[in-house]
Amino acid sequence: MDSDRPPLADHLLSPTGGLVYHLRALRHRHGLWAPFHRAVAGWLAGWQPRRRELVIVGPNAGYALPAGFLMRFERVTALEPDPLARWLLARRTDAGRLAFSRLDCLATPDGLAQLATAHPEAAILFSNVLGQVAAPAEDWRALLARHLAGHAWASYHDVISTSARPKPDGEPAILANDQTLETTLARFWPGGTIELSDHETFRLAGDRPQHYAVWQISRQRWHLVEWANNPDPPPAQAQAST
Ligand SMILES: C[S@@+](CC[C@H](N)C(=O)[O-])C[C@H]1O[C@@H](n2cnc3c(N)ncnc32)[C@H](O)[C@@H]1O
Repeated sequence: MDSDRPPLADHLLSPTGGLVYHLRALRHRHGLWAPFHRAVAGWLAGWQPRRRELVIVGPNAGYALPAGFLMRFERVTALEPDPLARWLLARRTDAGRLAFSRLDCLATPDGLAQLATAHPEAAILFSNVLGQVAAPAEDWRALLARHLAGHAWASYHDVISTSARPKPDGEPAILANDQTLETTLARFWPGGTIELSDHETFRLAGDRPQHYAVWQISRQRWHLVEWANNPDPPPAQAQAST
């Protein structure tokens, strides 16, 4: 890590996680959050990058990660500012190969480039963090395309959040790249105008079809979450030998 950069600072009280998130997880992870966690498990099962190393950004305590996921990789590096989350994550039964990094790859316009340099062979999973932290320049779509095009990366992230109740039958779906945010929302919410917060992360992986699921985070609040991934480019070694 570049020693001139401020390291990832500890945050126990934070709008993107912190103690409130742990309390919510305690209350809802086996109930309200379970259908969304099943969707995440499905996305992760379908994501099979040919990489031995995983970097996971914003895993919190791993509440959304299915049991055994961390053991799929020979080396796992987590970037997580919440000390309680790190403590809990390290105690998962699949965390035997886990280490932590203090690189803050989301704070500066070249943060993702720093991440790519520090972990050139790793698959990178952004674990519901890009819709929580504002892009330090342009938007996350542009920064990912510029700095991580050569990496196998995947992200699930909030696209919008709202207190408007979605359709009852809004199962997870894969939507083609001709959909706008409005038509995507119409797939999950009944017609009419809804008040929402736009997290500015729609179609992070560009023009490929992307997956969507609704996450009911609390009794009165729902998020539309997108799963996007950059196809696995050949590892640097294989490129060099061709
Ligand atoms: C909404 S929570 C998602 C937690 C978990 N991945 C999940 O899906 O349930 C966002 C997480 O990102 C973490 N985070 C916030 N800023 C970060 C940063 N600059 N680098 C890495 N993680 C960060 C927060 O501490 C929190 O754990």
